[in-house]
Amino acid sequence: MKIYVPPIKIQGIKTKLVPIIKSNVKINANTIWIEPFMGSGVVGFNIAPKNAIFSDTNPYTIDFYNKIKNKEITSCEIRNFLENEGRKLSEGDDKYYYEVRDRFNKTHNPLDFLFLNRSCFNGIIRFNRKGEFNVPYGHKNNRFSKAYITKIVNQVKYIENMMQECNWQFICQSFEETIKNAPKNSFIYCDPPYIGRHVDYYDSWCEDDENKLKDVLYKSNNKFMLSTWDHNEYRKNEYLEKIWCNCNKIDVEHFYHVGAKEKNRKPMIEALLTNYEVNGENNLIENVNEQLKIFSFV
Ligand SMILES: C[S@@+](CC[C@H](N)C(=O)[O-])C[C@H]1O[C@@H](n2cnc3c(N)ncnc32)[C@H](O)[C@@H]1O
Repeated sequence: MKIYVPPIKIQGIKTKLVPIIKSNVKINANTIWIEPFMGSGVVGFNIAPKNAIFSDTNPYTIDFYNKIKNKEITSCEIRNFLENEGRKLSEGDDKYYYEVRDRFNKTHNPLDFLFLNRSCFNGIIRFNRKGEFNVPYGHKNNRFSKAYITKIVNQVKYIENMMQECNWQFICQSFEETIKNAPKNSFIYCDPPYIGRHVDYYDSWCEDDENKLKDVLYKSNNKFMLSTWDHNEYRKNEYLEKIWCNCNKIDVEHFYHVGAKEKNRKPMIEALLTNYEVNGENNLIENVNEQLKIFSFV
């Protein structure tokens, strides 16, 4: 399966899980795809529904896609921008990266956001308490090579084309609003920050949020799928039984790439929870019988 990779990256991106998610969602041509924690948008962008609402509390990702949708920024403009800024980066190195970072924290220019996202350490999105983007530079010679810029531009072109054909909305709001307003024929895919693990996105995440998410999801009366973690070699996710015990579950083995060396890969079993039966089997949480292996090097 060919997987489309979006221009904005984020930690916890689900690129490698797209095939298993795609084969287990229950949608048809009339379904409205709802993705309240869009992050990079990789899941919905690959499902490619006709009608979709992508939302997130990170205003900069939402702004980036709205500006592409409204043709306020184009793939052509992005190429010119990255060529110019890439040249300045290769001359100024760290110093120039931090200059752009300061500029972004004052002006919130979506092109600067893309530039930082594609040159920062590991494509991480993280903000400090004052709401300033604070990810350090990801050192690499010739960061914005010709081939790299073309890759990013093609990623933007895919989105431009999809927006011609589909009705996709991008809204900056909390998951509660998005799910509360989901129409009857929606399918809701949720990928919140992982409860009980170190999280660093635009907002933090706690047990209260996880409970609120459960309540709004069940109230919405739509089919939903939730990505979360199941266990690693040290710990298991206690909230699966505490909060999500009525869900069906698919386990997916996922290797998180932490260091450059193979021995540093830390396997984690991810879980996909649904409020409907997957593949005709009822894999209730106490009775998991499916283990799928996906190897990912994030
Ligand atoms: C795990 S990431 C989603 C990754 C995404 N599925 C992907 O593959 O790229 C979680 C996202 O939830 C967003 N978020 C955190 N708290 C939120 C909230 N209360 N409402 C909506 N989005 C929130 C973060 O900004 C982040 O983009």
